[in-house]
Amino acid sequence: MLVTGGNRGIGRAIAEAFLANGDKVAVTTRSGGAPEGALDVRCDITDAAQVDAAFAQIEEAHGAVEVLVANAGITADTLLLRMSDDDWSSVIDTNLTGSFRLARRASKGMLRLRRGRIVFISSVVGLLGSAGQVNYAASKSGLVGMARSIARELGSRSITANVVAPGFIETDMTGVLTDEQKAAIKAQVPLSRFGSVDDIAETVLWLTGPGAAYVTGAVIPVDGGLGMGH
Ligand SMILES: NC(=O)c1ccc[n+]([C@@H]2O[C@H](COP(=O)([O-])OP(=O)(O)OC[C@H]3O[C@@H](n4cnc5c(N)ncnc54)[C@H](OP(=O)(O)O)[C@@H]3O)[C@@H](O)[C@H]2O)c1
Repeated sequence: MLVTGGNRGIGRAIAEAFLANGDKVAVTTRSGGAPEGALDVRCDITDAAQVDAAFAQIEEAHGAVEVLVANAGITADTLLLRMSDDDWSSVIDTNLTGSFRLARRASKGMLRLRRGRIVFISSVVGLLGSAGQVNYAASKSGLVGMARSIARELGSRSITANVVAPGFIETDMTGVLTDEQKAAIKAQVPLSRFGSVDDIAETVLWLTGPGAAYVTGAVIPVDGGLGMGH
């Protein structure tokens, strides 16, 4: 399996869960630091040539990638009026187009295998919206249309494509929030707490395992109830 951004946060927890499950795990990042036991591959997902080279390296070591978890993502938050073209395009290029580059390259091997699981890590914000995150929310909701189209296109070859939509999870990405912002978020969450990275990893493990063979085109919320109904 391959998880992008597996050196920290949610991606690392996903990599560790698959390693504990006895799977062959490859992790791609820009800066290195994959967990022990994983194949550590350097790849900036904004560059199609680097994505292609990373897959070639992984296929050489592990064979075709059967499970792709497109997790790497960034934020560049600011209000609409102040949002620069670069704030917009860097987030779309990483979160949405990067995931497209990965899925396109992964589908090659999956089509040959006639099986595969693709999981996109979106966000509750993709369907709920969020002031100051016009770029991020657009990138994350775009993953839903992409997953559902892939689910239709590749379903007959036993390839599933699903979306996991985390709520607020304790990682570097949410570490930048102020205490007031954290308290305001918790007040909106029915389970009254932030999620842990393991909450997401367990869901991804299930979604790519035998128990979810008949699940495709789904958006699975793991958000303590924050996005209920969206
Ligand atoms: N934390 C939350 O509350 C939360 C909630 C909803 C959704 N999510 C989503 O979950 C995913 C992981 O979030 P996180 O909180 O674990 O993030 P994080 O701690 O900030 O880690 C982001 C990861 O993405 C990698 N990355 C960023 N840009 C990249 C690029 N151009 N090419 C390759 N790798 C790149 C980073 O690795 P390098 O810097 O080494 O490349 C890093 O491993 C993201 O898609 C995020 O949007 C997070």
